[in-house]
Amino acid sequence: MYTGLQHTHSGLAYLALLALVLVIIWALVGALSGRDFQEKDRKIALIAFILCHIQLLVGLILYFVSPIGFSLLAGGGAMSDATARLTALEHPLINILAIVLISVGFIRAKKLESSTAKFRSIYMMYAVGLLLILSRIPWASWLGN
Ligand code: HEM
Repeated sequence: MYTGLQHTHSGLAYLALLALVLVIIWALVGALSGRDFQEKDRKIALIAFILCHIQLLVGLILYFVSPIGFSLLAGGGAMSDATARLTALEHPLINILAIVLISVGFIRAKKLESSTAKFRSIYMMYAVGLLLILSRIPWASWLGN
């Protein structure tokens, strides 16, 4: 189960990051063009929103199954080691925060009046979320594999 979850989480990361980048560009172009925000735009933003939430769910389960997740934190000593601190604490916490911000951007876009404000809510919050996610990815273990 652990290996399956690890591979799912690793593969989904590519999809979630790619979707975030594409939606940010899409919303930015939409805002700059001054066109109306349509149902199609909401659905495109929804793709990245859903991928991030699936990733969150898989990540949460993985956190309690992985030897470098919660067990490392519970065992003590993770605080003094930067690599351990990353997967046991920083990556989960910062990514949860990032996904909350992405969700706020998506949900707020529905409530805002003007099309430009809707596009802006999406590209701003998704971009902040993306930067937070990128800042705490265990790059060495991910791409080193
Ligand atoms: C969009 C959000 C997220 C992205 C893009 C992401 C991405 C990644 C990546 C690329 C890895 C390295 C995989 C590898 O070495 O093969 C990883 C590992 C990990 N992630 Fe996430 N993650 C996200 C959210 C979360 C969340 C919310 C949690 C927990 C609450 C979490 C828990 C973990 C754990 C425990 C590992 C280490 C797994 C292991 O190798 O044993 N992730 N994540």
